[in-house]
Amino acid sequence: MKIAIIGTGYVGLVSGTCFAAWGNEVVCVDKDAHKIGALQGGAVPIYEPGLDELVERNSVAGRLSFTCNLAEAVKGAAVVFIAVGTPPRPGHGDADLSFVYMAARELAPLIDDNTVVVVKSTVPVGTGDIVHKIVGSTRKAGTFSVASNPEFLREGVAIEDFLQPDRVVIGVEDKVAEARLVALYGIPLEPKKTPIVVTRRRTSELIKYAANAFLATKITFINEMADLCEQVGSNVGELALGMGLDKRIGTSFLNAGPGYGGSCFPKDTMALLRTAQDYGVSVRIVEETVTANEARKRRMALKVMDALDNDVQGRTIAVLGLTFKPDTDDMRDAPSVPLIETLQRFGAHIRAYDPVGAENASRILSDVELHDDAYECARGADAVVVVTEWDSIRKLDLARLKKVMRQAVLIDLRNAFAPGVAEALGFRVSAIGRPTSRQETTGTVSRTHAGPQEAPRSQQTHEN
Ligand code: UDX
Repeated sequence: MKIAIIGTGYVGLVSGTCFAAWGNEVVCVDKDAHKIGALQGGAVPIYEPGLDELVERNSVAGRLSFTCNLAEAVKGAAVVFIAVGTPPRPGHGDADLSFVYMAARELAPLIDDNTVVVVKSTVPVGTGDIVHKIVGSTRKAGTFSVASNPEFLREGVAIEDFLQPDRVVIGVEDKVAEARLVALYGIPLEPKKTPIVVTRRRTSELIKYAANAFLATKITFINEMADLCEQVGSNVGELALGMGLDKRIGTSFLNAGPGYGGSCFPKDTMALLRTAQDYGVSVRIVEETVTANEARKRRMALKVMDALDNDVQGRTIAVLGLTFKPDTDDMRDAPSVPLIETLQRFGAHIRAYDPVGAENASRILSDVELHDDAYECARGADAVVVVTEWDSIRKLDLARLKKVMRQAVLIDLRNAFAPGVAEALGFRVSAIGRPTSRQETTGTVSRTHAGPQEAPRSQQTHEN
């Protein structure tokens, strides 16, 4: 099948490359001549493990090409995907759809009859209807279809997510679009019997937002449980396992941390709130999730301050990991940013290490000493804060780290190190959802926050 993909951003490039890997003839089109030039020369402009190789393999095989010429790209294409950006509108929270509508206007006179136009960008409910109207103002009804096919890929594992998805969601209003999209996905995914959910366009559009809002809520829930664990002396990792092994709950997305970030959850939860507001529907759980997550990100700096006896003025803090999660260079809404900025306001000197995100970080953060080696970063530091659980950070030799530090204080916001490991080497540790080493040694957990069943032993004896 010939496929055209409009927009060579994250979703467009990964989708186009993977469709080509399935044997389709794919043309990716973008207005950015610099980007297209780079891709034609084999240079992939985004960091995504395995993508360079897949782009190269499919380009060499003649199945994948790049152009700035929209007419050339959509000519003869059975399916045209719109995969342009939908950034949040500053000060509004809703998605800016101008790129989607522009693509629809531009492709309308150029596509062949019977082309299926598919919106893959994350768009609010009803966007497909508007795209249909825009294309329909140029072409006769019945000679084209407009469908929705949201993308659920995660940065860092995008290729695997695309080629082996849990499910594919297709939103259609006619049989032509349904048959073509079911064939496009159904044939390569047949061996794995991957479910394909075929629904109406509006439901498909909402599924993407609902899924992301649910996952964001799940993370926020476990983060709040982590706070409770710290106070009552429980361990959130074991709590998550004990909860998650119930199949109705599931163990994934129950890793407590400094709050979610990235290009999707913050943007999509806000956009969902906006849609709900527009339709007069209350989605209080999502509202609370957004508020709680923002507050949590800001609070992480206080956790670091607390570990340093609330005195960070003039102290050196080494931040390990800057990107919003590992295996990406993406800094969008990364928890490291409010953390660092707050610590700087309190007078701390910040050094930082990230295996791939340093360049992007340097555009956002100022006065941060960036290092490309974690041990160099920690040299002379009063504390090390783990913000992103990169493999290279998880595998650090803590004894070596301790030797170069001025004092051995570790704030592990990702529980990258197993309980007790750093403590055994003499670190003072503050992790997420576990009592701090100070609480454990002084027993403050049970003394100051004793619940009814943990009342002082003498009292129990007296009452008994
Ligand atoms: C997300 C969705 O997972 C994906 O389906 C959608 O298409 C795009 O948005 P992504 O933003 O790439 O993907 O990252 P994801 O792995 O979902 O993580 C998002 C954030 O949640 C990160 O900041 C991550 O650190 C955090 N997270 C995730 C947790 O704090 N705990 C978890 O258990 C999982």
